[in-house]
Amino acid sequence: MIIAKTIAELQEAKKSLRQAQGTRGSIGFVPTMGALHQGHLSLLQQARKENAHLIVSIFVNPTQFLEGEDLDAYPRRDEADKKICERSGVDILFMPDIDSMYEKDELCIGAPALRGYVLEGEKRPGHFDGMLQVVMKLLNLSSASKAYFGKKDAQQLALVSQMVKNYFMDVEIIPCDIVRDENGLALSSRNVYLDAQQKQRALALSRSLKQATKMVMSGELNVETIKKEMRHVLDEVDEVEYVAIVDRAFNDLKEVEIGNSIILVAAWVGKPRLIDNLWI
Ligand code: PAF
Repeated sequence: MIIAKTIAELQEAKKSLRQAQGTRGSIGFVPTMGALHQGHLSLLQQARKENAHLIVSIFVNPTQFLEGEDLDAYPRRDEADKKICERSGVDILFMPDIDSMYEKDELCIGAPALRGYVLEGEKRPGHFDGMLQVVMKLLNLSSASKAYFGKKDAQQLALVSQMVKNYFMDVEIIPCDIVRDENGLALSSRNVYLDAQQKQRALALSRSLKQATKMVMSGELNVETIKKEMRHVLDEVDEVEYVAIVDRAFNDLKEVEIGNSIILVAAWVGKPRLIDNLWI
C-alpha cells in the first residue's frame, strides 16, 4: 500500500500502480474522514471486489464543520486506520494536509437551494457546501470510475449524486447499505462518545425506524401518523432534531411511496448527534 500525503505523491502513486499492473483497470474510491469502523470496512470490501485498483482518502475536511462544531475533537486514529486499509487491500491511501487541499479565496460550488437546505442542511447550514467542495476535489484527484458512499448519510449521497449529474462528472456513485451492530445501532465514528447506558438509549433511533416499517407493512402510509408514532418510540433520546419521510430526491411526501421513500431521524444522545434512516 502506498501512502500519499501530497497531490504530487498521489499522482505518482496512481502512475506507478498502473505501470506495475500493466492495466488501466477501473479505480474504485472510498472517501472517508478516518476513524474507520465496520461500516467503512464494508465500503472498502465492496470497492475492492468491484475494481482493479482501490484508493481510499482520509481527510477530516474543515469546510464541512460549522462554527461551534468541534473539528479538533473529531476522532483521529491514523495508525489504526492505516492498518485497516493495508489489511483491506487498499492500493493507495491518500492522507493530505489542509494546505494541500485548499488555497485562499477558492472557487466554491454550493449545495442546491432546496434539497441542500432541508433536514441536515437546515440544521447544519453550510455543511453540504463544504462536503460537496471536498468531494468534488477528491473525485477529481482519484480519477475513480466508481466511488462508494454509505446510505447512512442519505442526503449526502443524494447531493453527491446530483453534483455528479449536474457537472457531468465521469464517475459512478455507488450507494452502500447501512451497517449496524448486533443490537441495530447504525455504526458511526461518533458512537465512540456513547457510554453503555447512552448506547442503550440510542437504540431508540433504529427502533423508531422498525416501528415505521411495521406500520407501512400493515398498510399505514400516512406520513404524519407514522412520524407521530416514531416520536413516541424516540422518547428515550435527549432531543429529537427531526423525523422525516421524503422521496429519494428529498421532496416531502404526504404518503409513503413504497420503493421510493426514505424515513430519516436525527437525535441527540449525550454528546453526539446521531442520524439513521431506512429506505423503503
Ligand atoms: O462522509 C464522510 O465521511 C465525509 O462527508 C466525506 C464524504 C469523506 C467528505 O469529507
